[in-house]
Amino acid sequence: MPPQPNERIEAYIQDLFLEEGEALRQARERAQEAGMPGIHVPAALGALLAVLVRGNSAHKILEIGTLGGYSGIWMARALPPDGRIISLELSAKHADVARQNFQQAGVGNRVEVRVGPALETLPTLSHEAPFDLIFIDADKDNYPAYLDWAIKLSRPGTLIVGDNVLRGGAIIDPAPDDAGAQGIHEFNRRAATHPRLDAIILPNRDGRDGVLIAAVKDERA
Ligand code: SAH
Ligand code: DHB
Ligand code: MG
Repeated sequence: MPPQPNERIEAYIQDLFLEEGEALRQARERAQEAGMPGIHVPAALGALLAVLVRGNSAHKILEIGTLGGYSGIWMARALPPDGRIISLELSAKHADVARQNFQQAGVGNRVEVRVGPALETLPTLSHEAPFDLIFIDADKDNYPAYLDWAIKLSRPGTLIVGDNVLRGGAIIDPAPDDAGAQGIHEFNRRAATHPRLDAIILPNRDGRDGVLIAAVKDERA
């Protein structure tokens, strides 16, 4: 079968913009070899995060959900040399693989992985705030709480990015037993209606999922 038009369009974007290079490819492979799930961001979202980091002149980034460091490497590379990422990860094993991957990618000195449930780590970060960009990509049922923390740890102009906000449409009418879809729906609703946020969802992954991008407004705006 010849490629469908949207496949050709995907390939066009891929060829022009998404050469991930050796370090990112190896980061994916090492995570896979360690038996970790292949749920890192697609390269197109990595590239979008890098554009947002650069465009917002970010120096301090907070990531919730490190996995093997794939999204972290994309963001770290877009930071200036004195830029820093704090990345929160529940699993000590994921954190170990990620630290190795950050070293191998040459950004080990820019990224600090903190192990534990993010809801326990977030209250300890106030002295390191405000962050210039906050990327939320961990357990979906806690997304509403992560959004509240993200706003607390922000300044006017901070970008808050949330992955997996469409989940194949499961968020439209979340099933009673789907805590993840319920959490994401509530996250989207709060982001859309929050007086201190401008927000939008960009569908990705062929429309099957999406990313929410919000900018924090001035208190008086
Ligand atoms: N941002 C990564 C993918 C993250 S996958 C990338 O694109 O490369 C989600 C990660 O969140 C997993 O590693 C999982 O262990 C972690 N996680 C799940 N629950 C968590 C929690 N309560 N606190 C912190 N991290 C959590
Ligand atoms: C899952 C989590 C993610 O962050 C993602 O991008 C894809 C899948 C998951 O938990 O299944
Ligand atoms: Mg994700």
